[in-house]
Amino acid sequence: MSFSLLSAAAHGGGTPAWAMLAYLVAGVFFILALRGLSSPASSRAGNRNGMIGMAIAVGTTLVMHGTNLVEIGIAIAIGAILGVTIARRIAMTAMPELVAGFHSLVGLAAVVVGLAAWLNPAAFGITDEAGQIMAVSRIELGLGIAIGAITFSGSVIAFLKLSGRMSGSPIMLPGRHVINLGTLGAILVLIGLYTVSPVGGAGEGWMVIAVTVLAFAIGFLLIIPIGGADMPVVVSMLNSYSGWAAAAMGFTLGNSAMIITGALVGSSGAILSYIMCRAMNRSFISVIAGGFGADAGAAGGAGGAREQRPYKQGSAEDAAYMLEQAEKVIIIPGYGMAVAQAQHALREMGDKLKEKGVEVKYAIHPVAGRMPGHMNVLLAEASVPYDEVFELEDINSEFAQCDVAFIIGANDVVNPAAKTDKSSPIYGMPVFDVDKAKQVFFIKRSMGGVGYAGVDNDVFYMNQTVMLLADAKKMVEEIVKSLD
Ligand code: TAP
Repeated sequence: MSFSLLSAAAHGGGTPAWAMLAYLVAGVFFILALRGLSSPASSRAGNRNGMIGMAIAVGTTLVMHGTNLVEIGIAIAIGAILGVTIARRIAMTAMPELVAGFHSLVGLAAVVVGLAAWLNPAAFGITDEAGQIMAVSRIELGLGIAIGAITFSGSVIAFLKLSGRMSGSPIMLPGRHVINLGTLGAILVLIGLYTVSPVGGAGEGWMVIAVTVLAFAIGFLLIIPIGGADMPVVVSMLNSYSGWAAAAMGFTLGNSAMIITGALVGSSGAILSYIMCRAMNRSFISVIAGGFGADAGAAGGAGGAREQRPYKQGSAEDAAYMLEQAEKVIIIPGYGMAVAQAQHALREMGDKLKEKGVEVKYAIHPVAGRMPGHMNVLLAEASVPYDEVFELEDINSEFAQCDVAFIIGANDVVNPAAKTDKSSPIYGMPVFDVDKAKQVFFIKRSMGGVGYAGVDNDVFYMNQTVMLLADAKKMVEEIVKSLD
C-alpha cells in the first residue's frame, strides 16, 4: 500500500507542510500531557493528552511514509497485546522495575535504528551527493547509538537489581572511576574520528561497532556500583537518557515529533532526577557521573543486629479511641500501605473521622513508597480528596499542632536519624517531624522489620508512640470497625 502523493523524502526539509503541522499539534499535546501530570487532579487528562499526541504522531508518520503498513500493523498489534497484558498483571509494587524494563527497550530501539541507518543510509536520506553519510548525521548516529546502548544496559541492570534477580548492594570495581572516565572518553574520541574519518575510509565500520560495544559496557559499569536506595534516582536518570537517545534518532530520521518527544522526556526526566536528588539529599552531579551509591552502605538490606529497647504496643481499639478524640490527625502513608493495599480502608477511616468532626490531612514524602508519586496514585485510586493531600514542605510545620500522627507503612521518611545521625545512610534526607506530634501511632508488621534503608528508627521508642503491629490493611479495617 502506498501514499505516493503524500510521501516525501524522510530527511531534512523534505517533510510536507501538513505533516510538520501535525507534528506540531502532537508536540502541543505532549506539553499539555506533562502539564496535566504535574498534579493528581489533572493527571488523567494529562495521560489522555499524551495518548492523543502519540496517536497523531504515529498516524502522521505512517501516512507520510505509507510503506510496509501490514508489517508495521503486525508489530504494533504484538506490542499492544504484550503491553496490555503486562499492564493488567503488574503489581503496583513492581512498577519501578517495569519502568526500568521499558526504558531498556527505548534504548535498544535507538541502537537498532542507528545501526539500520548506518547500514543503509540512503534509505534514511542521510547521504550526500557522493552517496556517503553526511558528517552531521554521523554525529547524530554516533551519539544516538551510544546513549541508546548506555540506556539499554544500564536499565537492564536497574531492572535486575529492583526485581531482586541481582543483589541490590553496590558492586565496586577497583579503579572504577578511571575505567568509567576512560571508556566515556574512548566513546567520544571514536565518535569524533568516525565523523571526520575519510569518507568510506578503512576502519569506519569498526568504529561504529566499537562505540556500540563500549557504550553497552559503560551502561553496565555506571549502574553496578549503585546501591538499592539510590535506584529511584537512577531509573529517573535512565528515563532522561532514553529521551535524549530518541531525540538524537529523531535528527537521524528527520522526524520532528521524535525530536520534540525525546527532548521533553529527556528534560523532564532530568528535572525529576534533580527533584529526587534533593528529596534524598544526593548530589545530582554524582548521579550523572554514576557510582554515587558508593557510600549507600546497607541501603535496601536487612539491617544489622539491633539493640532491644522498650516500646509501647497498642490495639485497634486504643487507636480508634485516641483518633476520635483528636482535633487534627495527619496520616503519613509509606511503602507498607502499598504492600498491604490498605488505601481503601484508610480512606474509609478518614471519612469516619471527618464525620466525627476531626480534621484529617495526608502527608506525602517525595520518595515514600518505591516510585515517584506512588502514594499520590494509591490515594487517588481510593478517591481521597486531593485537597486533603499535602507535600512534605507544605505540611511539615503542622506536626507541632497536630494531636495524632498516624504512620501507616512508612518508616525511612519519618526517621529522625536523617536529621541527627551523620553515619546513617539516610542522613540529610528531609523527613517528617512526627516527633513533634502529641501522639504517634505507627503501623508495621513486626519490630524486626526495617525500612528500605535497613536502619532502626527512634520513633518506635518515643514516649508518645504506640506501635500497632499488624498488616496495615487488617489493622485499619479493625480501627474502622471500632469507630462505628
Ligand atoms: P520504608 O522505609 O521502605 O518502610 C516500609 C515500612 O512498611 C516498614 O516499616 C515495614 O515494616 C512496613 N510494612 C511493609 N509491609 C507492610 C504491611 N503489609 N503492613 C504494614 N506494614 C508494612 O518506606 P517509606 O517510609 O515509604 O520510605 C521509602 C524508602 O524507599 C526510602 O528509603 C526511599 O529512599 C526508598 N525508595 C523510594 C523510591 C521512590 S521513588 N519512592 C524507590 C525506591 C526506594 P515491617 O516489615 O515490619 O512490616
